[in-house]
Amino acid sequence: MPAQSMEQLVSLCKRRGFIFQTNEIYGGLQGVYDYGPLGVELKENLKRSWWAAMVYSRDDVEGLDASILTNKKVLKYSGHEDTFTDPLVDCKDCKNRMREDHIKDSKCLHCGSKNLTDPRPFNLMFKTNIGPVADDESYAYLRPETAQQIFTNFKNVVDSTSKSLPFGIAQIGKAFRNEITPRNFIFRVREFEQMELEFFVRKGEDEDWHKYWIEERINWWVQQGVEKKKIEVFNVPQEELSHYSKATIDLMYEFPHGVEELEGIANRTDFDLGSHSKNQEELDIAADVLKNKDSNARLAFQNIDSKEWEVPYVIEPSAGVDRGVLAILNESYKEETLENGKNRVVLALKPHLSPIKAAVIPIKKNDSTIVDFSKQVKDKLQKLSLGRVVLENTGNIGKSYRKHDEIGTPICITIDFDTLEDDTVTVRDRDTMEQKRVKVESLEDLLKNLLVK
Ligand code: GAP
Repeated sequence: MPAQSMEQLVSLCKRRGFIFQTNEIYGGLQGVYDYGPLGVELKENLKRSWWAAMVYSRDDVEGLDASILTNKKVLKYSGHEDTFTDPLVDCKDCKNRMREDHIKDSKCLHCGSKNLTDPRPFNLMFKTNIGPVADDESYAYLRPETAQQIFTNFKNVVDSTSKSLPFGIAQIGKAFRNEITPRNFIFRVREFEQMELEFFVRKGEDEDWHKYWIEERINWWVQQGVEKKKIEVFNVPQEELSHYSKATIDLMYEFPHGVEELEGIANRTDFDLGSHSKNQEELDIAADVLKNKDSNARLAFQNIDSKEWEVPYVIEPSAGVDRGVLAILNESYKEETLENGKNRVVLALKPHLSPIKAAVIPIKKNDSTIVDFSKQVKDKLQKLSLGRVVLENTGNIGKSYRKHDEIGTPICITIDFDTLEDDTVTVRDRDTMEQKRVKVESLEDLLKNLLVK
């Protein structure tokens, strides 16, 4: 059965070293988490899988890794300074502060009082100061989405790669939002990662590309192990669209706490490149943009036939890495009752996402011949660079199997006394628990077949 509650996932994450509350020894920091030894591998594997699908497998996408610190002008012209706000309400009785859209029946979520203030806009961006003088002019922002740095690098990428439409720029990285009510473990946090593609297309072809990317993205999540029936396609109503969007489809997933957004796929029109461009009056910009007096770049393509400048439209699939990790943990977590009546927890991760690809287990902890042989097997498999391989030298095979079931290791390889005689080992499959005897020399192919599809 799938994970029953968030508590089970939180407990597994802490117990086994996937995710910890940040700065826990000082009481933590609300809405911020750290990824431990296994979490960093899982998260990295998810990001690599996205990058492989969105960049390596395509000829029309380039990658980028831009800065987090962002010039305030970027977020002025992007509209974030004016519109990236949540309406906040204060309870006059208990002083609790909450998002207006979270309130039910006009009552304070903390004490139930109806004595509430009118809603006021609260900007979600984190500000910081640049340089030694902290004054009103020296501030910059931590980026609230990775997207803006893609738009501001549009000309650099086009000039350096000679790309023509349609093409995309992909980026994975941190984003920061001062969420009023961070909650539900790593679902809504203040520091998180996004995997964003800005795909530039010709006006008029935008709606077809929007449909194309919705399909692509659903298929990708299914390949990561998310059941298709657990993804709902939600057409965001006009009145709820972000300021830049003509149409947005949210991929909603059945998280342990409810059905919520995993990824958004927006048609951002020509709003972004139009907003950040110089000479806007010479460009036929469809979106309602702020007059730009600061940009030094024209963010447009010249049509070869008409010689007219065209501002590309943007289709943006934007996925949260942390929400992805949570969805994948939720999908893969299973509690099973075995034939002997005992229970086991299994993380049935797709092997390409597993933090550890194989565990090599010497049958006897203190037997130097067996342990040395195990180390050699481990080193050989590690050198394939398919992900992490570990030596699990606890001397307790049963416990080692349970541990690796729980952290999602697809295979365990046991080295015993027969290995020294006939060069065979026992390979145990995480999901079926079946064990088979194979030649040591076949292990490399076995691991490759598991991981390279
Ligand atoms: N560039 C478009 C954009 O940022 P968004 O819907 O605000 O759109 C995109 O965010 C994705 O980023 C969401 O679908 C979600 O997966 C993730 N995300 C947004 N805010 C988050 C938060 N506070 N904590 C964790 N993930 C978040």
